[in-house]
Amino acid sequence: MDMANICHIYFQEDGTMNNNKWWKEAFGYQIYIRSFYDANNDGIGDLQGITEKLPYLSYLGVNLIWICPFYKSPMDDNGYDVMDFYAVDKTYGTLEDFKVLVEEAHKRGIRVIIDLILNHTSDEHSWFIESRKSKDNPYRDYYIWRPPRYDELGNRKEPTNWASFFGGGCWEYDEQTDEYYMKIFSKKMPDLNWDNHQVQEEMVKVAKYWLDLGVDGFRVDAVAHLAKAPFVDSDMPTNYRYTPDWGRFSNLPKLHEYLKMMRKKAFSGYDLMVVGEVGGGALVEDALKYSAPEEEELDMVFNFDHNWCNNSWSAKDRTELKINVPHLKEMFDKWQTGLFGKAWNAIYWLNHDQPRVVTHYGDDEGPLHDRSAKALAVALYFMWGTPFIYNGEEIGMTNPHFKSIADFQDVSFITQYYLNIQNGTDPEAYIAHASLSTRDNARTLMQWNDGLHGGFTKGTPWNLINENYRTINVESQIKDPNSILNFYRKIIEIRTKSPFRNIIIYGSYELIEKEHNQIYAYLRRFEGRNLLVLCNLTKEAATVDKLPYTLEERVLGTMDKQININKKMVLEPYEAYVLEIKEEI
Ligand code: NOJ
Repeated sequence: MDMANICHIYFQEDGTMNNNKWWKEAFGYQIYIRSFYDANNDGIGDLQGITEKLPYLSYLGVNLIWICPFYKSPMDDNGYDVMDFYAVDKTYGTLEDFKVLVEEAHKRGIRVIIDLILNHTSDEHSWFIESRKSKDNPYRDYYIWRPPRYDELGNRKEPTNWASFFGGGCWEYDEQTDEYYMKIFSKKMPDLNWDNHQVQEEMVKVAKYWLDLGVDGFRVDAVAHLAKAPFVDSDMPTNYRYTPDWGRFSNLPKLHEYLKMMRKKAFSGYDLMVVGEVGGGALVEDALKYSAPEEEELDMVFNFDHNWCNNSWSAKDRTELKINVPHLKEMFDKWQTGLFGKAWNAIYWLNHDQPRVVTHYGDDEGPLHDRSAKALAVALYFMWGTPFIYNGEEIGMTNPHFKSIADFQDVSFITQYYLNIQNGTDPEAYIAHASLSTRDNARTLMQWNDGLHGGFTKGTPWNLINENYRTINVESQIKDPNSILNFYRKIIEIRTKSPFRNIIIYGSYELIEKEHNQIYAYLRRFEGRNLLVLCNLTKEAATVDKLPYTLEERVLGTMDKQININKKMVLEPYEAYVLEIKEEI
């Protein structure tokens, strides 16, 4: 299938025709390039590696890929710290490699979106190198600089008491000019000053450069943080040295001016999709400001609400993890109903910043590993919104077992580890607990086969591979008709090609069995046809009262059983179905 074929007529929510919203009907797949596939055997995944795996992505059935950053970077944050927005990092290949990748993907009907990193650059970006030289450097105002404060004893202190996301405060002192620069992530990632019109113009240029090279849109990184509140101390109560008052730089009104400007000057005139990362704490009302079509900013946003519906912040180690189904249902329901008919949505289980979903919510090392991975997929991928699979999810990859700090790569984890150890925390206990939420969980090597390094590289890999690659890998799952991979392929096919696609893409959503502690169930309705999604998301059997619908067709299930919804049912652990039903019996 080529691009012309996937640009056919599309339906809108109200059933009327619309010929340009391809992204509502797309099925996405996120690629963490560093860990995906290493074509040149230097130990690091690369652009050619993605091109080589395009046949696999076609086999899977996805028609949209989001590739994590491959810009030139010192890799403090694996590429989210950009040194040159116009260059490909040599560890990932060349600009030519990227052009080939886009061309080959398009030939297969696969669209390509990339990260657009607006909030910060690397401290090794030429703008910052200039900016830090002197207070009157023309690039000074590209970043956010403030003079120090001093306490009664004359000790220097930061301009505000705000914490940064990666540990420590959100200011870094720079001796050269005796001022602090702002950095809400790592100290090697200074925040750009979006009040500066030159910064805005630079970013318009960057976006257009990549669009003109053929990309189909962007995932806008950290978009919620572009605007900052006035620089005064937070009085939020805290036990920490710096105050984690994220509201000081999240979802502030001013950033909508920046995004409207980007839509007008950078994004208009292209048939693109733009999905923003709004992250934690965002309300539906916030999301509507970013993504309601009349706002003319983004097409949809990623929220984080469903990412932490278990006890991973308090559990001692992975054996204690337990899903909180009512919380998860509440979070999904909030977005499915809150945005319906008002703005488009993005749905996903995890990305490169979250734990593996089977470990987090399923039965990662137990006998129900496969069934739980399938049940989780059923629960998510029949909701409305553009779906994104995260690489490795489709084979049920799990969190690795980290043994010591040497096993971690993530700057955020490493910074926080040392801060905690300095404060007297026991290293082993810290690792057992904090590794439940570390971003490194999702970044181990993609498990292609049971050979050397899971088939990821013939060289020395940059990161760990999960030991279970010998049993959990793409090659073996291709051969097994009952594998998680083949189950995902069915889901993608149902969602993109089957007669049920319009119900799944455009139908309404209604949560049922609201009070049930184990079951996640919902109805999708479109033009007189309905789907019922019924999932037991726990390790225990669950009883469900008879349901007032007539079963028309079993569309998909995690178990090979007859289901009768007209009498009281006992659903086994992770038993899950998609059923076509009629509402009147
Ligand atoms: C969000 C990205 O997903 C994450 O990986 C990165 O560290 C931060 N933004 C900063 O760019």
